[in-house]
Order: sequence, then structure tokens, then C-alpha cells
Amino acid sequence: MKLFDVYPLFDVEPVEADGCLLYDRQGTKYLDFYGGHAVISIGHGHPTYVERISEQLGKLGFYSNSVPITIQKDLAHALGEQCGYFNWNVFLCNSGAEATENAFKVASAYNGRKKIIAFDNAFHGRTSLAVAATDNPKILFPVNEGAEILRFGLEDFEGVGKALNEGDICAVIIEGIQGVGGINMASADFLRHLRALCDKNDSVLILDEVQSGFGRTGRFFAHQHSFIQPDIITMAKGMGNGFPVGGILTDPKFEAKHGMLGTTFGGNHLACAATLAVLEVLENEKLIRNAAEVGDYLMEELQKFEDIKEVRGKGLMIGAEFGFPVADLRKKLLYEQKVFTGSSSNKNTIRLLPPLNITKEDANQFLSALQEVLQ
Ligand SMILES: Cc1ncc(COP(=O)(O)O)c(C=O)c1O
Repeated sequence: MKLFDVYPLFDVEPVEADGCLLYDRQGTKYLDFYGGHAVISIGHGHPTYVERISEQLGKLGFYSNSVPITIQKDLAHALGEQCGYFNWNVFLCNSGAEATENAFKVASAYNGRKKIIAFDNAFHGRTSLAVAATDNPKILFPVNEGAEILRFGLEDFEGVGKALNEGDICAVIIEGIQGVGGINMASADFLRHLRALCDKNDSVLILDEVQSGFGRTGRFFAHQHSFIQPDIITMAKGMGNGFPVGGILTDPKFEAKHGMLGTTFGGNHLACAATLAVLEVLENEKLIRNAAEVGDYLMEELQKFEDIKEVRGKGLMIGAEFGFPVADLRKKLLYEQKVFTGSSSNKNTIRLLPPLNITKEDANQFLSALQEVLQ
């Protein structure tokens, strides 16, 4: 059997890792400024992470959601304390796309509607409604058609106002910071506008924090920079530092009913152990503050590069837009300078998503590598 060949691959296979470093079979060292696509939050192979998962595996690796699972309650408590949504509820699943689907279900169960507002360049996952809300016709197939999605530009105050005031919109979904789309941010004013319109029209505001959550932007969730509160928050990626886990946080106004949502693997013992380890390390090592500080430094330094037209983002979710396509630049960074970086749907933008425990020295190493390939 061969693999279903859907991924264009880097020509490097990491086989070991430590912190923000990756090693291939020959022992060549690579700097990880991609974080396995924004997934590695507390760094590769963190001892607390390895210990917590191993310890849990030694006790009980899995049992279904048909029995009480105390570690889920421990996780709900720790997560509420750390992200500040103390009295909200959490539903655990396995991925970002699944989080999106469940967020739409909860919204629709609440107001009985089905129309969704999403934005240009958005990415919300590749499953049924999630891919319909995503702005990429290349990954949309006839089976995904039929969803009622209304799409607007990120700062289209008037467009969203008109649509929401029709009174039949189920939910608005927006990323904390757009990731795949090339690190684009909605202004605090626009988010406040959405909040007010959703309140007025009984529509549900969903913040997709799958990529921007769990401390990546220098706050627990990116929308917390704008001091607004959504109705539902989706999470995945950095939540498990590589262990597949996702979830939604819901405002107490949403009522849960037995059987309404469900999953076989979601919230399993190992996923909870992984997420608890992430929360423990984020707190003990003050990684959210580190993300803010090292991120500010990186952005400031990147702004000094003549070839860079614009630097966007917050914390360690950074986009640097050049005046030319960055594909060759990224290849040079990888093969000549041994640095992993991310791409985006904006061909001129390089995406930086390193682990949240990188130091200023790691940042300097990246900046020197970039300087070298631009010469
Ligand atoms: C903002 C956002 N939402 C949802 C998803 C989908 O997550 P997953 O690939 O875990 O299904 C992604 C993945 O890149 C994402 O960036």
C-alpha cells in the first residue's frame, strides 16, 4: 500500500526534537520557526509533557465518554482558571475542523437558524460546514456545497451590518488572527461592531482560536487583545503540543442536552493529560509573556529589513510580507540555513509560528539566517 499522496513535502525528515530544535537522521540540526504548523506550543519533548502523558498511559490510556472521566473535569477547571472564562463550559473533540463543526451545531441549536457569516481569506477546517466557511474553492467539493455562507471583507462594517440586521443569521465566525490567510487581523472596532450586531440580532459570535489560541499571540486568546467576549471559542493546535485534541468553550447561555454532541476519542485520558501538561508549562514558565516579549522583539527587528513591506501579527504569530513570492526564500532558509518556516495563501507572506519558549537568541539566529538568504 502507498500513501494517498496529498501533501507537498519538505525534503527533510525530522526524527528527533528538543525545544525549538529538530534533528534529521544524519543529526543535522534545524531551527523550528514553523512549530509543525502552529502546533508546538511548549516546545518539543518538554519533560513535563512526556512525564504527564507517560504517567497517564501507564494508568489508563483510553475509555469512552460513557463513563466519568475525572481528568476532563481537572482540565475544564485548569483551562477556565487560565483563560479567564471561569463559568463557561467546554466540549472536547479531536481537531480544529471538528471544533468548528461543533461550534456551528451549538449556535444552530440555540437560535434555530442556518446562515453563517464568514470572511475573505478565512480558514476554518476541511470538513463539511468548516470547509464551506473556509475561503478556498480548491478544497471545496460538490458534497460540501449547499451551506448558506455569506462572505465579507474583514473590515466591511456596512456589509455585515446589513446582513446581520436581516435577523436570520445563525452565527458569525472569525479567526482571532487569520493564520492560513497570511496573518490578517480584524480591528478591535470591527470585533466590537460584530459583538453589538450579534447581541442585537440574537446571532452567535464564534471566535476561531484554533491557531491563535493557547498563548500564541501573547494573550491566552487573541480576541482578548480587543477586550471583547464572543459566545463560542474554538481551540486545537497548541492545546495539545502535538497530541491531537480540540475543543469549544461555550457561554453558559448555551444549554447542553444529552446526545446533542459526541465523539469517540474526544477528551480521552491521554489528550487531557497532554493539555494539562501544556497549561502547567505555560503557567510555570510564563510562556505567554515570553511569546509577547520575544514576538515584539522579532517584529521590531523584521521591520528593519528593506525587503519586507509589512510585518503583521502579535506575539509569536507573525507574518512578514515581501514584495515578491517567498517560496524560494523559504527553500533557502530550510536547505541552506536549516530553518523551518511557514507559508500562507498570500504567496508573498512568510509565516512564523515558533514554539512559545524560544529565546531572543533563537530569534537572533532566525534573523541572521534571513539576512544571509536575502543577500
Ligand atoms: C484558524 C483555523 N481553524 C481551523 C483549522 C482546522 O484545524 P484542523 O486542521 O485541526 O482540523 C485550522 C488549521 O490550520 C486553522 O488554522
